[in-house]
Order: sequence, then structure tokens, then C-alpha cells
Amino acid sequence: MHMRKKKWARPELAACPWVIDVPEKLRGHWRQAFANPEAPFWLELGCGKGVATAAMIADNPGVNVLAIDISPDVLGDARRNIAALCGENPGNALLARANIEQLSGILSSEDEVNRIYIRFCNPWPRRGHKKRRLTHPRQLMQYRALLPVGGELCFKTDDEGLFRDSLTYFEISGFEPVWLTEDLHTDHPPIPNYISEHERRFVAAGIPIRAGIWRKTSAIITKDFTRWELDEDRPKS
Ligand SMILES: C[S@@+](CC[C@H](N)C(=O)[O-])C[C@H]1O[C@@H](n2cnc3c(N)ncnc32)[C@H](O)[C@@H]1O
Repeated sequence: MHMRKKKWARPELAACPWVIDVPEKLRGHWRQAFANPEAPFWLELGCGKGVATAAMIADNPGVNVLAIDISPDVLGDARRNIAALCGENPGNALLARANIEQLSGILSSEDEVNRIYIRFCNPWPRRGHKKRRLTHPRQLMQYRALLPVGGELCFKTDDEGLFRDSLTYFEISGFEPVWLTEDLHTDHPPIPNYISEHERRFVAAGIPIRAGIWRKTSAIITKDFTRWELDEDRPKS
């Protein structure tokens, strides 16, 4: 879906002290950028317009949240949504524009992320594009480097194919499931479910939401994923 350019978004982001312009500069020092550096640190990847992000930040004033998206237009909405719920100076929220495929240039293991959220990332269903999925092992290896053993990753999607593939991606990348559902809205998740703008639409259309919580294990992972015969690694027939 093409997003119309919002003229107001870039100036508002530039004027906001909790929108980080050059996130690479804070690599290894993210905790110090929040009012309380000792608080747990959660990361949201692909926050979009930040409807769920804002609700989560408002509900967890004792947790620091960094939300990342590549699009300044949606980040403009996310900034407004967070400010509307948490005020113009929320000490526990930061936004950054960045490409998550290059996450390791922005965060390091010294940042000690406790939990990562991925809500409705792009499904990239075509074989040649699957490597761009935010749950692809290539990405999960980057997330592993930021999380301690036991650190959590919460993922949900409307896309059955992405969910099925992601179960394998998590397994081969050293993440164990601690809770899984094929229908988030009829099950009872063990942690609050913050509903995002995409989720609202899918639920209204009667589409079940698949979701899970995984924990990083201490497994030693080789980067040779080809032996797992991921669909995208098979030669074309
Ligand atoms: C389908 S939307 C979901 C937005 C929101 N999480 C929700 O649930 O409504 C996916 C979001 O991920 C962002 N995104 C996709 N690939 C990205 C990347 N490589 N780096 C940063 N953001 C990305 C897009 O700009 C978009 O806002």
C-alpha cells in the first residue's frame, strides 16, 4: 500500500527531542538516552503509525521503549500518537528512523534489550524476497546479539505462511517458543496484547491473528542455514 507523503511529518520529527536523528551515534548507549537508564528496555521493529506502541508506552511507564521504522511518514503519526497518550515529553519513549536490516549498526549487546516486538511485518511471500522478512534467520541473528539468554521476542501476524515459516526460523536461530496461538483474539495471552492499526483492520475482517512469544536460548548457532533447507535456499526447479 502506497503511503501519501505527509508534509508535516519531517519537520515535526526534526523538532522532537525524543526522535533520534542519527541512531548510529547512540549504539551501545541507548539506555542512557532515557530518563531512567536502569529500567527494562523494549525494542519495537516496524512500529508503523504506533497505535500499539503508544498504548504500550502509556501502560508501562517503568519500561523504556525504542520504536523503529524506516518511513518518516508513519513515524510522524507514531510521534503524534505517543504524544497524545503519554505527553510531549515521555521520558520512557524514543523513536528512530532506520533500516532494520542494518540493526547491528544501531544497537549492540551493550544496549541489553530485554524484549523485542514485531507486529505485522511485511510478509514478503515470494521466494526471492523472503530474506527481507523481519523474522528471517538473517534478522534473528542480529536480534540474538542484542538479547540476553532468556530475552523475549513477541511476534504476531495475519499471514499464515509467514507464521509457519517463522516457527522454523525461530527454531533454527536459537529461540524457543514459550507461548503460541493460531487465534490471538480467542486465546488469552500471558502478557497484554496492544492492538496495532493493522491488527484492528484484520480483526474487523474476521482474519485470525497468529502470535507467539519466544525466548533466546543459549544454543550455539551456526550461520549455515542452508542445511535446514529453507524454501528460499532451494534451487529453483
Ligand atoms: C505492515 S506495517 C505494520 C505496522 C504496525 N506494526 C502495525 O502492526 O500496524 C510494517 C511496517 O514496517 C516498516 N518496515 C518494513 N521494513 C522495514 C525495515 N527494513 N526497516 C524499518 N522499518 C521497516 C514499514 O515502514 C511499516 O511501517
